[in-house]
Amino acid sequence: MNLKGKRIVLGVTGGVAAFKAAYLARELQRAGATVQAVMTEAATHFVGTATFQALTGLPVYTDQWDTRIDNGMAHIELTRVADAVLIAPASADFIAKLAHGLCDDLLTTLCLARNCPLAVVPAMNREMWANPATQRNVAMLRDDGVAIFGPDSGDQACGETGEGRMLEAEQIAEAMDAFFVPKTLAGRRVLITAGPTFEPIDPVRGITNLSSGRMGFAIARACRRAGADVTLIAGPVSLPTPDGVVRIDVTTAEQMHRAVMTELDIARAAARMREGPVTAATRAANEAAAADYGASGAGARSAGARGAVGGFADGDGDPTSAGDDDPALAGEQAAAAVDYGASAASPKRGIDAFISVAAVADWRVANRSEQKLKKTDDGGAPALEFVQNPDILAEVARRPDAPYCVGFAAESEDLAANATAKRERKGVPLLVANIGHETFGRDENELLLIDAHGSRRLPRASKDALAAALATELAQRLRAR
Ligand SMILES: Cc1cc2nc3c(=O)[nH]c(=O)nc-3n(C[C@H](O)[C@H](O)[C@H](O)COP(=O)(O)O)c2cc1C
Repeated sequence: MNLKGKRIVLGVTGGVAAFKAAYLARELQRAGATVQAVMTEAATHFVGTATFQALTGLPVYTDQWDTRIDNGMAHIELTRVADAVLIAPASADFIAKLAHGLCDDLLTTLCLARNCPLAVVPAMNREMWANPATQRNVAMLRDDGVAIFGPDSGDQACGETGEGRMLEAEQIAEAMDAFFVPKTLAGRRVLITAGPTFEPIDPVRGITNLSSGRMGFAIARACRRAGADVTLIAGPVSLPTPDGVVRIDVTTAEQMHRAVMTELDIARAAARMREGPVTAATRAANEAAAADYGASGAGARSAGARGAVGGFADGDGDPTSAGDDDPALAGEQAAAAVDYGASAASPKRGIDAFISVAAVADWRVANRSEQKLKKTDDGGAPALEFVQNPDILAEVARRPDAPYCVGFAAESEDLAANATAKRERKGVPLLVANIGHETFGRDENELLLIDAHGSRRLPRASKDALAAALATELAQRLRAR
């Protein structure tokens, strides 16, 4: 996170979650921001001004008649030096006032008079949040270009459970940080694979590799922060899902292959549906297929949270069993589902870019045992036979509807030569090379970008920084396409 040099007016309104705003002030400062707190009168019943003054090192304003500002106009002066106003928590009352342009205290007047972006973090009882009046007001704010962060769902201070909880301080700071990232990938859809795959030998053993998934997850996060709709197909890793990213968990290379092709099929069918008229009969058939896909789709789909991993311990370990015998069928069913809501996270447009970061196993065990292999007294070892896994990247690149393809190469020697050869072999426009054993599991990396015109080095930096650079690079390449 990097809010270095950003000046944020933190508006605190009257809700129980006001205490969390103190943590938020600290998070924002930790990320490098300067925080100027402004509180409503109601907010001061929940937390004292002294808390925010002590945490931020700046005087706290609550009253529009405050004379500490030279010209007496705190509502103007406080935002003229700010990069953004962030209201957290935002009460139902405050949201209503904002939506209607009311300004009867310092914070509402300051919001109306501001000349910088406004972000609002609702926090209230679930009934207050669900009330049509609140929903209308929030919709009006969205229409006015105000960013809304959350709310979350869960236990509430009043003892009820539901939607309306304020996001946690770290989540708000992350959202604020993302808010400042230029939206170079807005309107784009990006499909990413990340992590290792795991190829079973028997129900309790398997072959995997050292990929941690961190680079792929960092790229998913960076693309999302740049405004893209991101679907991340992840091998078995325990990393948290980046905010706003749709995640599909898989275990084996075959599952990853099927999940990728299914996502592409969905996108292609959605594009076709947009183009042609849909008859009632087609719609009924598609709805039936949609229901089927909903029950047995490719991997566990989750947005912003980790779903189930298709483990091999439960038999064949393949969560895509409906399409097992016929991957094309699974693809068609999934494709049919898209316009009818069964596949909630599938937008109605094609995939613009495919970034293959996953370290997919080249081979799987052909003679995998259904039962645990046992040690024998004769000192022998099982003879494993291997069969090659599908080449996901090359297959995507060969599709007639191929998105812009970015491959990753983890090499152990002769980086440039091996990666250049791999780019040509896979038929992709851009290949990103790194030394596998020097980056797997680490926070930093060093990349070599190789395209038809040559190569460019992205020097050693954090994976987050490299991912942001790659997202910018991708945006430029998609624009030039
Ligand atoms: C104990 C208590 C807790 C409250 N918690 C919330 C809350 O979480 N969210 C909310 O919108 N209003 C809450 N309210 C109501 C607001 O404080 C009230 O609408 C107030 O007028 C808001 O003022 P403000 O918007 O100027 O800060 C609460 C009230 C009380 C007495």
